[in-house]
Amino acid sequence: MSVAVAEQLKPMEDFLKLKPDLKYIFFGGKGGVGKTVMAGAAALWFASQGRKTLLASTNPVHSLSSLLAQNVFGTETPVNGVPNLWAYEIDTTETIEKSKRDIAEKIKWFLKFADIPTQADAFVETATMNPAFEESAMFENMVNIMFEDKYDVYVFDTAPTANARRLLGMSKVYTLWVGKMLDSRKEAQAVRLSLSFRKKQEKDPLLDYLLSFQDRIGEAKKLLTDDAKTAFFFVTLPEALPIAVIRRFIGWFHDFGIPVGGVVVNGVINVDTGMAAGASGAGPGELSQFVVNRIEMQKGYLDQIFDTFTEVRAVVPLYETEVRGPEMLKRVAGDLFPGI
Ligand SMILES: Nc1ncnc2c1ncn2[C@@H]1O[C@H](COP(=O)(O)OP(=O)(O)O)[C@@H](O)[C@H]1O
Ligand SMILES: [Mg+2]
Repeated sequence: MSVAVAEQLKPMEDFLKLKPDLKYIFFGGKGGVGKTVMAGAAALWFASQGRKTLLASTNPVHSLSSLLAQNVFGTETPVNGVPNLWAYEIDTTETIEKSKRDIAEKIKWFLKFADIPTQADAFVETATMNPAFEESAMFENMVNIMFEDKYDVYVFDTAPTANARRLLGMSKVYTLWVGKMLDSRKEAQAVRLSLSFRKKQEKDPLLDYLLSFQDRIGEAKKLLTDDAKTAFFFVTLPEALPIAVIRRFIGWFHDFGIPVGGVVVNGVINVDTGMAAGASGAGPGELSQFVVNRIEMQKGYLDQIFDTFTEVRAVVPLYETEVRGPEMLKRVAGDLFPGI
């Protein structure tokens, strides 16, 4: 990293000093920029500080097992050779199926309660056959993991940008929707009570469910917007598109009142390591024109990144291989949290 770049950084160290209670850490950004890698490195780092850490993926594209070179699918699994670290790739299919069963049960109960002689299947279809339902199921799953509170630190490898934003935006929609549902449920119950021969209030599991659901959403929102506990980091490459994506993303997050921890720049070619030695068209120790051009291009975008974002936390180099296994992740952690 050049001196000029180092001087403009607001290193992770500074941020972490201000946030001793940091507990929920997320990584967002365009697909392929290194979110999973950074989540893995951060989780490894927190674990190395003696904090019991869970690295969790709510991403339907499974990549944690590949990152850790170990199967962590479907259950919280201790990471081999890394004390204090567990990893968990959530089984999205199972989560979604379970949510569908739950909702089907509730709809059936409701139809019976309201004396509506209709098959529930059509309602269940409408309620569950859309992407928003799947996202909401995944969101609930993530929130459940947070509520279980078994770990000191949670690092989430979030789904690509638009989905994550919708997930968070949904907490607002949820609240409105549940509020409306609750009003109409209370009304229905009052009518039923006044028509009933037995003046006795029946237990209403749907109402109970909605109330507890609203509660949980409120709690989740509290956690997600608590800037002592939560931080979203945005990963970008020194390239036009990933920068544009996180610029938009950070704007949304500010609007939602969700704490932004800062920006991580990944994949920066280290000019000094001579990594292009022997590359085609260049002699040993000499950079090819291709690499020279890449480096120039990256310089321009790095300047743009520092002009655009006030809190660039780390600049992580492009390694000579992809990132796989705890040993390599330790190296990334060293670059993500240099000096600490
Ligand atoms: N700094 C880096 N140097 C070399 N390879 C990297 C680097 N960062 C990420 N990679 C590789 O790039 C690919 C995409 O990274 P990944 O973390 O899966 O991206 P995302 O989760 O944002 O889609 C992976 O194969 C990963 O090993
Ligand atoms: Mg990923």
